[in-house]
Amino acid sequence: MLQITYHGHSCFELEAEGHRIIIDPFLSGNENADVKPSDVKVEAVLVTHGHGDHVGDAIEIARSNDCVVVSNFELSNWFSAKNLQSHPMHIGGSHDFDFGRVKVVPALHGSALPDGSYGGEPAGFFITMGGRTVYHAGDTALFSDMGLYGRLYPIDAAFLPIGDNFTMGVDDAVEAAVLCGAKLAIPMHYSTFPVIETDPKEFLRKAELRGVKSKVMGYGEKLNI
Ligand code: NI
Ligand code: MN
Repeated sequence: MLQITYHGHSCFELEAEGHRIIIDPFLSGNENADVKPSDVKVEAVLVTHGHGDHVGDAIEIARSNDCVVVSNFELSNWFSAKNLQSHPMHIGGSHDFDFGRVKVVPALHGSALPDGSYGGEPAGFFITMGGRTVYHAGDTALFSDMGLYGRLYPIDAAFLPIGDNFTMGVDDAVEAAVLCGAKLAIPMHYSTFPVIETDPKEFLRKAELRGVKSKVMGYGEKLNI
């Protein structure tokens, strides 16, 4: 069993078998976030790409937990230069950590860091913990290889951006959910800022019409899969 906790935007905590990790911890910059960085107790921070709304509070959380940051090689160098433990990976690679397995997959987006440093290529993650596999798509456009990865690594839950403007909007995200074959689709990356204001119920409705089970998670809400 895997417990998913949503902290808004693209931030999720995953917990299984006594292990806990956080992905894209954008908390202090999100006025609606349900937790403070200092409340987060994890053994790894995963970062999909270099944009500020994904790196977020990764530095503070990694430092206070004395834990590793998992990201692409270029972001990893940036975290290392800040004296953090980092584990560099890259697109296509997978690795078994104590908490579970991470596979890095492509995302169609950018990855520059807030200070303008080069952040390599953006990514999504397939994360397997507690016998379940989740797909965190990161910030991305729709692309057909989501279907390939979903076939090779069956997805129990997919976290898909629906906010449009910077990423897929609702219609493309519904298509992504169909393509990747996730048993459950969970929308993310919407309504944090005015330009990505989106009604997640529209995603639910349209996903249902295509036979995809989906769930909108509120800030702080937990879900066991
Ligand atoms: Ni981004
Ligand atoms: Mn973003």
